[in-house]
Amino acid sequence: MVTPPLLRIEHASKRFPGVQALSDVGLELRHGEVLALVGENGAGKSTLMKLLTGIHEMDEGQIYLEGRPVTIDSPRTAQELGISVIHQEFNLMADLTVAQNIYIGREPRGGGFLLRERELNRRARRLFERLGITMDVRQEVGRLSVAKQQMVEIAKALSHDARVLIMDEPTAALNDAEVTALFRLIEGFRTDTTGVIYISHRMEELQRISDRVTVLRDGCYVDTRPTADTGTQEIISLMVGRTLAGQTHSEPRSVNRTEPVLQVEGLSTKALLRYITFDLYQGEILGFAGLMGAGRTELARALVGADPVDGGAVRVHGNQVKVRSPAEAARHGIGHLSEDRKRYGVLLEQDVITNILLPSLPHYSTRGVVRDKAGRARTQQLVRQLDIKTPSLRQPVKNLSGGNQQKIVIAKWLAKDCDIFIFDEPTRGIDVGAREEIYQLLNDLAAQGKSIIMISSELEEVLRMSHRIVVMCAGHITGVLDGTEADQELVMERATRFSA
Ligand SMILES: Nc1ncnc2c1ncn2[C@@H]1O[C@H](COP(=O)(O)OP(=O)(O)OP(=O)(O)O)[C@@H](O)[C@H]1O
Ligand SMILES: [Mg+2]
Repeated sequence: MVTPPLLRIEHASKRFPGVQALSDVGLELRHGEVLALVGENGAGKSTLMKLLTGIHEMDEGQIYLEGRPVTIDSPRTAQELGISVIHQEFNLMADLTVAQNIYIGREPRGGGFLLRERELNRRARRLFERLGITMDVRQEVGRLSVAKQQMVEIAKALSHDARVLIMDEPTAALNDAEVTALFRLIEGFRTDTTGVIYISHRMEELQRISDRVTVLRDGCYVDTRPTADTGTQEIISLMVGRTLAGQTHSEPRSVNRTEPVLQVEGLSTKALLRYITFDLYQGEILGFAGLMGAGRTELARALVGADPVDGGAVRVHGNQVKVRSPAEAARHGIGHLSEDRKRYGVLLEQDVITNILLPSLPHYSTRGVVRDKAGRARTQQLVRQLDIKTPSLRQPVKNLSGGNQQKIVIAKWLAKDCDIFIFDEPTRGIDVGAREEIYQLLNDLAAQGKSIIMISSELEEVLRMSHRIVVMCAGHITGVLDGTEADQELVMERATRFSA
């Protein structure tokens, strides 16, 4: 007798108003395996996982666990069946502590509040110890960095005794060391009775962690292949349904540095930044490299007035400015794509057009309502240019797939027509095809004479895109390298200046 697979989905279909998110999709997870699930932004990956975890009900189809048909009609049922998920969008309560978030709905009973809290914290601490993660479990989740919040999500999923662990882009916010730590956790979780479904846009990760890979395209099943026998290019072709043209050709990596658009001198913050000084020129892509905690995101936030500045001067087109808020930065022509889109990037309840035109609203609207034909046309154009998958401009952004929500934030700043763009992790969560489009877009912006600060934790991306690279370490600038002379080693050497 053949043993049935750990989990099987047959003929799954799911429709949302205006969108057939899944049609007749099948998937099989074997015991002890890590199955990668890939596809372009909007292909239906998250939706399929939401059927498995009782968040959406399927229109048609059947799920089997160990060969037994099961009905998963609520997240609680999923949990009871041993299916645990780390969502792409965090499900954490900002004003609860780490421990409270992990055990929400499963709090210990009896005793007074303080006693229960102590027990909760003890359990949470033990959990993190087991996972080898350092974490203050009494900290409010809203105060944690994106990476730390990710860790809390992971711990929460692992705190249930799960048989099936689903990870929807768990590494989007993690750096290399954290990814390695996560992979160790996955290896530790994988036994003869468990399995993992792993969603990611980072192709090199699939090769490292997965046994087989299942590809979805436009809500349909394409194929499942053993990862070891399948090249990255092949997987990408299956995803996009054609062979992608090679990489965007990088522009000649030099720029006429005559006119500084932005001059930063001695910028310091109480928390981290120490006398940051650099110039940004017209038409330049200035890459910022460094390890997590080096201060790149802090610098971006200080520049747009999101965080208080302690000292130093900032000049825009030669005029000294004092930027006290992101809105004020926008008035000076500085757009900021924040690393934490969820908190600062989009209004989830609002529709596509409102979100995209938000920074330019006074220009396009009366009393908050978008009336202007030009605004509509501009939005339409950006949706096409960035290939944002949405049934209409009136779709609430919360209904878009994760990657398409990212594109909304980028579109928003393009609509504003800024002179200076600060992009913090512009390709996070973006699929391989759309990534190239975003690179092309950055190159085009630079060619039009816009100036770009690009922060990225993917060194390859920084090396490929930048005219010059600023390397930071522990709140200092430790090097400014020319794009033509920089390489991985040189950047890493500067990035670890103070930790050697
Ligand atoms: N709640 C919803 N209401 C309406 N449409 C939805 C909803 N959730 C998802 N969709 C649509 O279903 C399609 C599939 O979305 P899904 O989130 O599954 O994509 P994905 O493969 O996870 O993409 P990404 O890589 O961007 O995360 C998209 O067109 C999306 O707009
Ligand atoms: Mg998704």
